[in-house]
Amino acid sequence: MMEIKKIGVVGAGTMGLGIAQVCAGAGYTTILYDISASILEKAEAAIAANLEQGVQRGKLTPADKEATLARITFTGETLQLYADVIIEAVVERLEVKQSIFKELAGINSTSTIFASNTSSISITRMAAAVPHPERVVGMHFFNPAHIMKLVEVVSGAATAHATAHTIAQLAQKLGKTPVMVQDSPGFIVNRVARQFYVESLKLLEEGVADVASIDQLMRASGFKMGPFELMDLIGVDVNYTVTASMFEAFHYDPKFRPSRIQQQKVDAGHLGRKTGKGFYTYDKD
Ligand code: NAI
Repeated sequence: MMEIKKIGVVGAGTMGLGIAQVCAGAGYTTILYDISASILEKAEAAIAANLEQGVQRGKLTPADKEATLARITFTGETLQLYADVIIEAVVERLEVKQSIFKELAGINSTSTIFASNTSSISITRMAAAVPHPERVVGMHFFNPAHIMKLVEVVSGAATAHATAHTIAQLAQKLGKTPVMVQDSPGFIVNRVARQFYVESLKLLEEGVADVASIDQLMRASGFKMGPFELMDLIGVDVNYTVTASMFEAFHYDPKFRPSRIQQQKVDAGHLGRKTGKGFYTYDKD
């Protein structure tokens, strides 16, 4: 099992910032990279705010907070992404993820593990474009990444056992609960959960009930969050793209058909909490 000291996280959006926070919190030297300088600034502020919340709740000391922040380098330079493990959390598009891994393969050692936080894209397809595909693996965190315990560790056709096991062990060191799964569209959680979103959007399209009523009913029946508030938390665009990618991967099975209402929200830039408006409206800080 390889020893991990340094972790690179690509993409400092909703998921990347939380992943970088847990890596640094567990003592790893962490490089957080994004193409957007303003996203990097927001990520730094969000991580500091999350850690401060930990201090207020008595879970962290102020010194822990400072030490965690000090372990993270925020950068827009790809050349700094030299690490033992690279975890990508960029937009859910195969060609973007592949081109990042290919580029980083050129500046990293052949033993660097490339892990993807993809929600639905085939690890097998992603790995096929990367030199030494046996070191490509899925490491699927859940939102919010600094709180949710589950991590799906996804093996593609070429993924080596040692790679998957190293990542499972890393997940444990991050305080997470890894579950080993084989590559399949949406893996386990997103495949099962897809109907939660898709059917709720159909109910909305058919005018059966409004957003708030559907959410309220689902909460009353035992779900922690209703489908629409959850889509706003995930990012309406991210949720839409995952459905579209699974629809294609399941050979256009109508069960996974993306919703026009959801597409319209994406087209309008109403992406949920991150833009201040989605299915609901939020106060922007
Ligand atoms: P996001 O839209 O919040 O963040 C994506 C970030 O990637 C943005 O900051 C963007 O500037 C950056 N980016 C785009 N292209 C890039 C490139 N070429 N190089 C570097 N950075 C680049 O998206 P989010 O929600 O964090 O999702 C990221 C990944 O995580 C997706 O694959 C998504 O499916 C997955 N995921 C999302 C979850 C969620 O609840 N939002 C949960 C679990 C997985």
